[in-house]
Amino acid sequence: MTWNKENLLDISDFSREDLKGLFKLAEIFEKYAKKSDDGYKPLDICRGEILMNVFFEKSTRTRGSFQAAMLRLGGNVSNFEPDVSALGKGESEDDTLYILNDQCDIFVIRHGVEFSVMKFSEAIKNPVINGGDGKNQHPTQTILDLYTIQKEFGKIDDLKIALVGDLKYGRTVHSLSTALNIFDDVKVFGISPEGLEMPEKYKNCEMAGTEMSKLDDVLAEIKPDVVYATRIQKERMPEEADVKKYEYVINEATLSKLPEKCIVMHPLPRVNELQIPRFGKKSRMFEQAFYGIPTRMAIIATLLGHEADSLKL
Ligand code: NCD
Repeated sequence: MTWNKENLLDISDFSREDLKGLFKLAEIFEKYAKKSDDGYKPLDICRGEILMNVFFEKSTRTRGSFQAAMLRLGGNVSNFEPDVSALGKGESEDDTLYILNDQCDIFVIRHGVEFSVMKFSEAIKNPVINGGDGKNQHPTQTILDLYTIQKEFGKIDDLKIALVGDLKYGRTVHSLSTALNIFDDVKVFGISPEGLEMPEKYKNCEMAGTEMSKLDDVLAEIKPDVVYATRIQKERMPEEADVKKYEYVINEATLSKLPEKCIVMHPLPRVNELQIPRFGKKSRMFEQAFYGIPTRMAIIATLLGHEADSLKL
């Protein structure tokens, strides 16, 4: 598979080379992703272009970092607000997107229904980035996750990665598990409460347990390089679900059993499952969130055809 650079919808469209290309751009964009004394200057790579954020589900990081990314590239951003739009008058989502297409050059769409973003992209002309489609995938999160791992270890091959938490409804782990398939000798372990195991479709991991009270011991045995923790996605569960029984905690006691060089990642937001300091020795979740900006700058610049200009920076 290789990425067609027309839309960004599904992480399984990506080859190692595609990811390498994006990482190279992200590395360049890092010094333009926030203001610093070290060579920062505003870019005009996307001057005159408009990115439209269309979020039908809640978001802080994805929506905000796409916005920051486009602004850092010198472009403009519109944020469509479903709650005050004509959707409330009964207009269809399809008509709405068709209209918005003329108001922008590129879309980021998040929607609660699986595969809906792919469907929208077929009907509209502008490039579409999947900002999360229900419990299916979150491909740009995976790109920043892999970038974080690559920066930390200088490679992704040969690592041991433990995916922990809600592997059934969590879209970030679906895309991540799928993407890890293209690297060599990566061992992926899934540890989830019983009933929240990784669906077959995305499964590229060995299930290493469902008894969350034994999580620390299971991790001690695996000796992972990366622990990737996720929130229990209670908003995706049936109303009658007993969410309490799925709760688990990673804390300082867990960290004390992990190898010296192991890092802990989380797509955020964290709720109760990750009780460790924001910038502790093993914590990387806030650095990871920051990498959302340069990686999304790389994604936008590529989809808008500015790859060559970006490489000249
Ligand atoms: C995630 C999501 O929306 O899937 N958030 C994010 O974009 N970083 C994870 C979550 O909500 O648990």
